[in-house]
Amino acid sequence: MKPRSTNDDPPPAPRGCFIVIEGIDGTGKSTQAKRLADWFEKTGREVVLGREPTDGPWGRKLRESAANGRLSPEDELQYFLNDRRQHVDETIQPALDAGKVVILDRYYFSNMAYQGARGFDPAGIRRLNESFAPVPDLLLILDLDVDHALARIGHRGDNANEFEQRDALLRCREIFLSLRGEAFARVIDSTGTPDDVTGRIINTVACMLDC
Ligand code: TYD
Repeated sequence: MKPRSTNDDPPPAPRGCFIVIEGIDGTGKSTQAKRLADWFEKTGREVVLGREPTDGPWGRKLRESAANGRLSPEDELQYFLNDRRQHVDETIQPALDAGKVVILDRYYFSNMAYQGARGFDPAGIRRLNESFAPVPDLLLILDLDVDHALARIGHRGDNANEFEQRDALLRCREIFLSLRGEAFARVIDSTGTPDDVTGRIINTVACMLDC
């Protein structure tokens, strides 16, 4: 029989906690991920802050391809999966097992949205990812309309490439918002100042999580 705990027992180790921040370009994900990490650290938690694509070998290949000509849709999807598999095995799962807070700036929901916008079925991409990648405790979808987001990243919309990018982002936003019914997902209005958005995020995290 397990002995009853007494007041002298050490407090139980905190459970790992996994939070993902997603949204189209220009919604402020990296600023907010950093601020959320700082907030958790002030509460005394150990935090691992990551991003995808990562700085590992597959992630580097993906960033190079964005600069030097895009990969085929099939290769691009495969590289993102390879990058994520390595991220899960080497960083995400060990940190969660050690009771840390893991905060990611993009994860497989970006795979659904961006490769979905390139023609793959988002539900199929989700299944592929969930066969090896843990589902987060909380998915924060930073939401902003596409024109507002593009204006933030200095997009003037006056050439063909930019029109194409706008169309792809409209589809990405739609795919992100299709996740709003999931129990672990919350949509965060990302209009206003960075402080406004941080306030909304902290309120949501404080209400949703007990880890
Ligand atoms: P971004 O997150 O904006 O980072 P940075 O500004 O440092 O380049 O860019 C990453 C790009 O990768 C973004 O356009 C979305 C894309 N992406 C995918 O297409 N699929 C994925 O699975 C992930 C994680 C990202």
